[in-house]
Amino acid sequence: MAIRVVRSVAELRGWQAQHAGRELALVPTMGFLHEGHLELMRAGRTHVPRERGELALSIFVNPAQFNDQADLDSYPRDEAGDLVKAESAGVDVAFVPEVDELYPPNASTYVEVGGLDQHLCGATRPGHFRGVCTVVSKLWQLFSPTVGLFGQKDFQQLAIIRRMHRDLFWPGQVIGVPTMREPDGLALSSRNARLTRPGRAAALAIPRFLQLVNQRYAAGTRNASLLIEGAEQALSPGRIHYVSVVDADQLQPVEQADTPTLVALAVFFDDVRLIDNTLLGGPP
Ligand code: PAF
Repeated sequence: MAIRVVRSVAELRGWQAQHAGRELALVPTMGFLHEGHLELMRAGRTHVPRERGELALSIFVNPAQFNDQADLDSYPRDEAGDLVKAESAGVDVAFVPEVDELYPPNASTYVEVGGLDQHLCGATRPGHFRGVCTVVSKLWQLFSPTVGLFGQKDFQQLAIIRRMHRDLFWPGQVIGVPTMREPDGLALSSRNARLTRPGRAAALAIPRFLQLVNQRYAAGTRNASLLIEGAEQALSPGRIHYVSVVDADQLQPVEQADTPTLVALAVFFDDVRLIDNTLLGGPP
C-alpha cells in the first residue's frame, strides 16, 4: 500500500478518523533513515501486525533538542529518500510537519523529567532532554499509539521517555529496541554520514573499547574505574566528551557495577559526536 504523507495536525486527525479503533505503532525519528530506524519499524510491525493496525513514522528535526545552532543546521536531511525507505518498510503514514506546526507561534509549554538528565549527555547538553520530552509528548498526544519504539543506543533518552510515560500515565507502551551495528561493530547513526573515511575507521575504537569493557566484566571486574581504565588511550584519536559508569535505573554514577550497570560514552571523531553504550548485568 502507498504511504500516506501528512504535514499538518488537521490532516493527521483526518487520517486517524479513517483508522479509528485500530492499533498503532509509532516510530518517532528526525529522519535521514538508516537500517537502525528500519529495525524500529520492523519491531513496530511485530507489535502491531497489519491485520490489527497501522505503522506510523514521524520525521521532524526538533529544534528544541539542539543546543548548538551549527549542529541543528548541519543535521543531515533527506526527506525524499526517507519516504522511499519508509514505504518499502511498510509504513502506512508518515507525519512530516514544519516547525510551526508542532511549535505554533507563542508555544510555551515544555515537558521536563527531573533527575535522570543530570549525567551522561544531559550534563553537557542543557535543555536537550527537555526538548526531546516536549516533542515526544506532542507526538504521543497526537498519535496515542499502542506502542512507541525507541533505540537503546540513546539509552538515556529511552530511560527518560520511559519515566515520562510512567509518571504521566500515558496510554500504550514504550518499547526499547537493541542497537543495530555495522558488520564491523560501529553503531548505526545518522551522524555516521558526516564521518570522513579515516574518521570512520578511527571511530571503530568505540565498539572495540565497549567490547573490552564487556570482557573485563565477564572476567569478574566490578570496580567502575577498572572497567573503563585506559579509555583515553583506547579511544584516541577521538576527543572524549564523557565515558561514564552509571546504574542502569537511575543513571547515577557508581563505583561498583554490582547491579545492572550502563557504561556509556560520547566521543568526537572528525568533530562528529558519536554515542554508544553497553549494558552490564542485564536490563534494569
Ligand atoms: O532519537 C531521536 O531521533 C529523537 O530524539 C526523537 C526521539 C525522534 C525526538 O526528536
